[in-house]
Amino acid sequence: NQPIYILAIESSCDDTAAAVLENDKVLSNIVARQAIHEEYGGVVPELASRAHQQNIVPVIDVALKKANIDKSQLSGIAFTQGPGLMGSLLVGSSFAKSMAQALKIPLVAVHHMHAHVLAHFIDEAGYDKPEFPFLAMTISGGHTQIIKVKSFFEMEVIGETTDDAVGEAFDKSAKILGLPYPGGPLIDKFAQTGNPKAFQFTKPKVDGLNFSFSGLKTQILYFIQKHVAENPNFIEENKNDICASIQYTIIQILMDKLKLAVAETGINQIAIGGGVSANSGIRTTLKEAETKYGWKTFIPKFEYTTDNAAMIGIVGYYKFLEHQFEDASVVSKARIEF
Ligand code: KG4
Ligand code: ZN
Repeated sequence: NQPIYILAIESSCDDTAAAVLENDKVLSNIVARQAIHEEYGGVVPELASRAHQQNIVPVIDVALKKANIDKSQLSGIAFTQGPGLMGSLLVGSSFAKSMAQALKIPLVAVHHMHAHVLAHFIDEAGYDKPEFPFLAMTISGGHTQIIKVKSFFEMEVIGETTDDAVGEAFDKSAKILGLPYPGGPLIDKFAQTGNPKAFQFTKPKVDGLNFSFSGLKTQILYFIQKHVAENPNFIEENKNDICASIQYTIIQILMDKLKLAVAETGINQIAIGGGVSANSGIRTTLKEAETKYGWKTFIPKFEYTTDNAAMIGIVGYYKFLEHQFEDASVVSKARIEF
């Protein structure tokens, strides 16, 4: 059997990424981060699109070079069809289409959220793959979903946020504390030496497996305003405890829903993905759940959890095996059904 070489392109948000896979193994995984957005405290769509246009050629070039693969060896090209920012998606899809056409090789369209889920199937030493069926929880700056995964191509969203994503909850809380964007990693860092029970925040009441984080943000804002009015140094003096308490509340919200999802589905294999899965508190809590509740948990290698092209490539590979190809008329979709 000849190996299958997939070039994958991801450009749904603010990172321009390309990867080359040999079957389910990653040969290269390149991400060009766009620092420009930091100055604005969030992603600016117009700037993202322009930066993708500048980055895409060099990023693909480096991915091929690093993989030691000539483009003539490629079996197919996979790209992110959606969901995401339209102007960003179009840069990746246009490039993928013309390259596939020029090389006369198949084009594979990939759903960004499927990719976060199937990132667990990248062959990587030291990382187990979940068995079907399993529950996937995708937590990032753009998404918060619990997905029931029955097979590579059969998955169902059983819970999702009704407002902010969990990463936004971290980032907006951090902003209230005067921390730079993205604040999630900083909250994590300060939380490590803080008392998670120092301050109490109430968890939102949301039916079923859905989430809501916007109330928590407002609650934190009022809490900080009230204390700072009494003591201007309140944040400085209590930074670690505040961060630990916020993080603890967010983790409890996620864990409550996961427990409910396990109870409702009878599935106790949990695979997480998305940038927020880097959070040390979430990692520890999930590991504890293995002994506490008998769950089996999966956390992919960090470079495959944040937005990356290797995860697009693994979906590309499985779709390639099934001959799920597209022609050049395939359209990018800012919103896309699951
Ligand atoms: O997956 P990602 O890189 O991009 C998307 O949003 O799709 O996720 C970025 C998000 C940001 O909100 C960032 O603050 C959060 O992940 N994040 C963290 C940590 N590392 C990244 N949140 C909490 N703790 C962390 N250690
Ligand atoms: Zn993502």
